[in-house]
Amino acid sequence: MCGIAVDGNKKTTTEDDGKIVLIKKKGKVKALDEELYKKDCMDLEVELDTHFGIAHTRWATHGEPSALNSHPQRSDKNNEFVVIHNGIITNYKELKKYLNSKGYEFESETDTEVIPKLIKYVYDNRERDDMSFSTLVERVIQQLEGAFALVFKSHYFPGEAVATRRGSPLLIGVRSKYELSAEHIPIQYNSAPYYSFLRDCAVIPVFTERQGAAEPVGLLKEGVQDKNSHNRPDKPDKSTAVNSAGDGKAVEYYFASDASAIIEHTNKVIYLEDDDIAAVVGGKLSLHRVNSLAGEDSVRAIQTLQMELQEIMKGNFEAFMQKEIFEQPESVFNTMRGRICFHTNKVILGGLKDHLKEIKRCRRLIMIGCGTSFHAAVATRQILEELTELPVMVELASDFLDRNTPVFRDDVCFYISQSGETADTLMALRYCKDRGALTVGVTNTVGSSISRDTDCGVHINAGPEIGVASTKAYTSQFVALIMFGLMMSEDRISLQPRRLEIINGLKILPDMIKNVLTLDNKIKSIADELYQQKSLLVMGRGFNYATCLEGALKIKEITYMHSEGILAGELKHGPLALIDKHMPVIMIIMKDACYTKCQNALQQVTARSGRPIILCCQDDQEMSENAYKTIELPHTVDCLQGILSVIPLQLLSFHLAVLRGYDVDCPRNLAKSVTVE
Ligand code: G6P
Repeated sequence: MCGIAVDGNKKTTTEDDGKIVLIKKKGKVKALDEELYKKDCMDLEVELDTHFGIAHTRWATHGEPSALNSHPQRSDKNNEFVVIHNGIITNYKELKKYLNSKGYEFESETDTEVIPKLIKYVYDNRERDDMSFSTLVERVIQQLEGAFALVFKSHYFPGEAVATRRGSPLLIGVRSKYELSAEHIPIQYNSAPYYSFLRDCAVIPVFTERQGAAEPVGLLKEGVQDKNSHNRPDKPDKSTAVNSAGDGKAVEYYFASDASAIIEHTNKVIYLEDDDIAAVVGGKLSLHRVNSLAGEDSVRAIQTLQMELQEIMKGNFEAFMQKEIFEQPESVFNTMRGRICFHTNKVILGGLKDHLKEIKRCRRLIMIGCGTSFHAAVATRQILEELTELPVMVELASDFLDRNTPVFRDDVCFYISQSGETADTLMALRYCKDRGALTVGVTNTVGSSISRDTDCGVHINAGPEIGVASTKAYTSQFVALIMFGLMMSEDRISLQPRRLEIINGLKILPDMIKNVLTLDNKIKSIADELYQQKSLLVMGRGFNYATCLEGALKIKEITYMHSEGILAGELKHGPLALIDKHMPVIMIIMKDACYTKCQNALQQVTARSGRPIILCCQDDQEMSENAYKTIELPHTVDCLQGILSVIPLQLLSFHLAVLRGYDVDCPRNLAKSVTVE
């Protein structure tokens, strides 16, 4: 579902001038684009003023997918206030009841709709006529509970944008035709004069309104600000703001929940903190907060993203997911780059080294994540137990919270998350922080909530991942966690041979992944045979159990086939009843400590006329004799084998989804980053 709101001017009459035009679609962005084009070019009555617009795509959390439930949501039929929202409003029922009692009628089933209604209510009942747009927003968010990133637009404040967040990510991209050397934007507080926060903005180009910002007229220097100025946000101080008025192009601002949405326009971004309010008025950006809290930053940095546009382009691949699968030799290498010295066998994770002593003293390690990120924890649990000699718990964030799991000050809690924004994981982080545990982030997104809110952490450096089904982030999380184990065991003499074996394995891992990727055609032919099936079981144990869970998740996510990851040790306790000659079964049987046990499972499957497709080591004669088909993988160290064994299943799910005619990158009902609990 998607929608957009822009200013529209009637060409023939002045009656509706400035009325916001809302266009919403149930389907994809392309449909919206076509509609917008039609409106702009064909409909002679309306001329769209696209100087400032808000747009949104969403997966339904409240109400069925429909144009009515799409955002922007509006205050009334005249579109006086429109809002886009990422997150969830948990007290919407109470607010709706209140607004209903004031005569407001709701048209959608969304939680979001209370927000535009509420701002209209605040506007209609304002005590001063000159109340600014951002003050109205400030009033509104005081009433909201839950998580949100919001951008507002209003008929009463043409060309103005106000955005804010709490618990959901929001960033501002800044594009300027002049070099933007500014590093910090001051925060303005209602309770304090602005000038005291201006010391860091010495190099923000300053434009005057009179000159229409055609040229920068000077630089704001430290101390230049009038120390007697006690302006409040209702009257932002002109000289502190970056202005794009006039040609409207000197500085452009983009509000987005994710950097990949704006990278094609700019790599300069400001990450907003909870309860920051950003307003663009007359082309000038100002940031403010209601109150300053002791010790908090009084500036927001303009950061330069390292992300390259080409990194998020599909290139010659059919889908982002396919591109990301094939990127794994490089992404895994980038996770290790500069962190492992293959001469000295030293592993240094810069973001953890200062906390290593504390981690070594801890009571236990708790690894928390959702979906694929949880599987990365399952995949590395055994080797982490071995290398750290600590108890390691692996936890699904939602379940961990449901159980009110006891957490202690001497626990070390890891938050594994590609996006760094998953609400369940973030809630678990807050839960453990409140209990005094040391918190460690393992994320792929610099600047994300988890990377900012944890005490320390590791960036997996896999590069942007666009496909909803996670692939390269998984293998990089896997490698990052193993590197953590290696770092922890550096001074353990008895563990040195094991460490060396793993480090040597990591050294050739990218080449081995390349080797596995050459199996693509073979896997495609297996997909040709399987794509009409309803179900697919994936079975294994030990170091490869996580691959079963992750492979089954990929298949579920993008092919919509039923798929289960089964621990081979549990086969006789239930799943065996599913086996017959019709049920497709994939078995992972590698030459490791579980080999013999897996052979037993294989016999049980073949004895029931099962026809297993076996992922096994190259030249395993015995497997070839017992399998319906084999997929032969290069043999590596047992604890790294899961990085290789998951790739054929990633490829298989991709081919199955294509053959079944589904959109690989945007599976139905799923979102890349789930920012609601
Ligand atoms: C969503 C995605 C999954 C992902 C999970 C955790 O459910 O659809 O693919 O594994 O979130 O995401 P994270 O960003 O925390 O790794």
